[in-house]
Order: sequence, then structure tokens, then C-alpha cells
Amino acid sequence: MLIAECYSFPMSISVRSYAKINIGLRIGPRREDGFHELYTLYQTLALFDVIRVETSRGLGIEIACKDARVPCDETNTCYRMAEKVLRASKIRSKVRINIEKNLPVQGGLGAASSNAVATMLGMERALKKELAPLDRLRLASEVGSDVPLFLIGGTVLGLGRGEQVYPLEDLPNFHCVVATPALGISTPAAFAEWDNTMAASKLTPEQGSARIDSFSHSLFEWLGSKSFSPTGVPRQGWDRAEALLLGLVRTGMENDFESVVFPKYPALREVKRTLEKAGAKFASLSGSGSTVYGLFANRTSAGKASKLLTSQGVRACATVTLQRAEYWKTALSQ
Ligand code: C5P
Repeated sequence: MLIAECYSFPMSISVRSYAKINIGLRIGPRREDGFHELYTLYQTLALFDVIRVETSRGLGIEIACKDARVPCDETNTCYRMAEKVLRASKIRSKVRINIEKNLPVQGGLGAASSNAVATMLGMERALKKELAPLDRLRLASEVGSDVPLFLIGGTVLGLGRGEQVYPLEDLPNFHCVVATPALGISTPAAFAEWDNTMAASKLTPEQGSARIDSFSHSLFEWLGSKSFSPTGVPRQGWDRAEALLLGLVRTGMENDFESVVFPKYPALREVKRTLEKAGAKFASLSGSGSTVYGLFANRTSAGKASKLLTSQGVRACATVTLQRAEYWKTALSQ
């Protein structure tokens, strides 16, 4: 194997590592490999961590992060991605990665997954070596199920174990309130809890698959109706974002994790109720939590909801959803 050494001057590249939410998440049967079939809609948000990648002569991968909850060893997703990128690009180099953490850890916003993609993008630029698109996708799915979505950005359909990603036409920009109660929820534990619940309800594999099908119908009904009002007739002055959000509620899209996470952490259900009462057109747990978000048709009501939650001692902020073009325009513009 031909291995090139990085002899160039030290290079430093900063990349924005954006968050995602799940708009609806249906969990299907557990597969033989231990993963679960998923059906979900990912949407990137304007909230981000900053990943700084430095390459220089030498060997070794070093991770630095001021947040003590982030492991700086070889279990870190950035470390795992850096190793894979070096191997795939056949380059020897020292790699230093600094993680400026703004997003919650184990929060359901995909931060660790997004950090891994930002590492890949930063390393490609720092090492001046582009990976083939299919190699990028392969490395991303090896690091984690919800890593590949960050190679697309905007509105993305996620299938398989979540790693099969399809770019969808971007949804309009929504105002979004992201509440992150100080709880770290383990995704494998939430899946295990889901399996227990399913075993107790004695759902057959066929019924499990039928649940996935019904979700896909709801999703496509919603996406297909996006330029119409909830009555099916375009109404003058009816804001497209608002119509789409009301359609989302009408189609009954939900996150299956709520049924196992809310009973264990009732405070999260309360946050969802608060968002709904404060005017969210749609509110949901993101991933397996602990983030609960609300989608709002305007900035004022989102701002008020965020302030209300903060006054109740829940960490919350108002942001917007991020479309694909904006995602790529800003990711590398540090
Ligand atoms: O792929 P990722 O590393 O994010 O997955 C972490 C864990 O979550 C897996 O080891 C598995 O236990 C669980 N998982 C699952 N089904 C999925 C995705 C993740 O059971 N579709």
C-alpha cells in the first residue's frame, strides 16, 4: 500500500458541525445484526459546534474538548473518523482536533455524529485529499447510524438503521425551540426498552413491519400536501410553513421513542406540553432525547416559548431549521 506523508506546513481548518432533529421516527423490528429498522425524517438546524482540525508532520490523533463530558480518547466519533480518513486516503499525518461544544451531549441532536462528518470535511481540506463520495458515505455509516445524514444536510429521509439517506426537497424554514433538559439518555438503552415494550405487547414481526408502512404513508401524505391548506384548498394569505405544520399534526407523525422515554422521564413530557401550550404547531422528542423541540410558524411565539421554558429552569433556545444550500454555504465558512 502506498502511503504518502504529510510534509506540508501545518494546516488548520474550522468546520461548523450542525445539529439535527427527527421529525417523526418509527422503530421497526429488531434485525439479526441487533439494529432496528427505522423510518425517519431528519432536519438540520442552525445550531452548531465548531470542529477545528489541524494536520502537521508526525503521527497520532489528539482530541481536545473543554467539556468534561466529551471523551477525548479513541471512542470519540471524531477520533474514529480521523483514523478512517487517514487509512482511506493513505496519508500519514498528525491530526489534532479541537471540539468547541455548544450542543448537548447525548441530547438527541446528533452532535457526536455531526462532529464526525465535520472532522472528515476538515481533514479532506487540511490534507488536500478528496475522498470519493461513496467512500465518504461508507466511512460515515461505519462511524454511526445517524452520521451519513450530515453528508447531505437540509431535509433528509432516513431508512435502514438510519444510515440510508435520501435528500428530500427542503421544507420551508421553521422557527424552532430546542429544549435540552440536563439528562443524558443512552440510545442503546432506549432501543432495549423499546424491545421490552414490544415483547410485552406481543406484536408479531408482520405487525411491526405494518407499523413502518403506515408511517411511510403518513410521511408522504404530509410531504405531498405541503403547498396546500389543511382543507386541501390553497388559501389566500395562508402561510405555507403554517399550513405544512398543521398538516404534520393531522397526519399523526410521532416519535416512537416518546412511548418509552416519557414514562421514565415525565419532565420531558411536561416540556412537550409547555411547548404546545405556548403555540408550537408541532412538538416532539428528537431521536431518543433528551431534546424536545417545538416548531413554530413565527419568531415571536418561538421567542416567547423559549423564555417561558428558561424561566422554568429548562435550558432552551430559539433557532431556525437549516436548508441544504445554507448548510453547505456556511459549514466551511469559519
Ligand atoms: O449506529 P449507532 O452507533 O449510532 O448505534 C448505537 C446503538 O444504538 C447500536 O449499537 C444499537 O444498539 C442501537 N441502534 C439500533 N437501531 C438503530 C440504530 C441504533 O438498535 N437503527
